[in-house]
Amino acid sequence: MIPRISAPFTVPCLFAIVLVILFGAHARKTVQAASSTTPDYAANGDLMPPVHYREWIYLTSGIDMSYAPKSKEMADHSVFDNVFVNPESYRSFLRTGIWPDKTVLVLEVREARSKGSINQSGDYQGIGVKGFEVHVKDEARFPGKWAFFDFDTPTANGTLIPTGAPCYSCHAAHGAVDTTFVQFYPTLLPLAQQKQTLSAPFRNQSALPSANQ
Ligand code: HEC
Repeated sequence: MIPRISAPFTVPCLFAIVLVILFGAHARKTVQAASSTTPDYAANGDLMPPVHYREWIYLTSGIDMSYAPKSKEMADHSVFDNVFVNPESYRSFLRTGIWPDKTVLVLEVREARSKGSINQSGDYQGIGVKGFEVHVKDEARFPGKWAFFDFDTPTANGTLIPTGAPCYSCHAAHGAVDTTFVQFYPTLLPLAQQKQTLSAPFRNQSALPSANQ
C-alpha cells in the first residue's frame, strides 16, 4: 500500500530534510579542516589556519627575541613567542633529525603581563594573540621547499610572504636545521647534533650551546 502524505505535512518535512543535508555538509567540512595537521590551502593560495595548533607539540618560548618584526611595533612592552609543530613531523624529526615534507611550524606572539592575581615579579603571557606566523614545508608546492605565511588572527587564512622577504634570508643563513631555528628548541638540538643534521652555515658560525646551558 502506498502511504498517503498530505501536502501540509510534506512541505515542512522536505524543508527539514534540506536543512539536515545543508547543516550536515557544513558540519563535516568544519570537522575535516579542524582535524588536519597537514597544510591546506584556499583557492587563492592562502594557507588555511591550523586551528588545533595548541594541541600540537610545544617546542619553545622566547621572550623579546629581537628578530620578531612584530615585537618592534610593541617596543614599549615585552612579548613572548611560542613555537609549535604538528605531532607527525615532530615524531619524524625524533627518528631522523630532519623535517619531513608537510611540516607545519607555528609561531605565536603574546604580550607579557606583570600585574595580575598573586604575581609579584616576573612576567606571564596575556590571553590575546598579537602575532601569528606559520612556516610550511611543502616540497612540490614551493620552489625553495619552504614558505612563510602571515596571519592577522590564528583563525583567519594566512597570506603567503614573497620569497624576497627577510624571513627567508635570515632563516636560511642562521637556522640550525633546514631553515628552522632548532638551536633554540631544547628538545631537538641534541638530536640534530647526534644525527649530524645541522646546516653548514650554522656549524661554521657558532659555538654550540652545550646540554647544561
Ligand atoms: C633576523 C632573523 C629572522 C628573521 C628576519 C625572521 N625570523 Fe623567524 N625566527 C627567527 C628566530 C631566531 C626564531 C626562533 C624563535 C624562538 O626560539 O622562539 C624564528 C622562528 C620562527 C618561526 C618558528 C619556526 C621556525 O622556522 O623555526 C616562524 C614560523 C617564523 N620564525 C616566522 C618568520 C616570518 C614569517 C618572518 C618574516 C616576516 C621571520 N620569521 C623573520 C629569526 C628570524
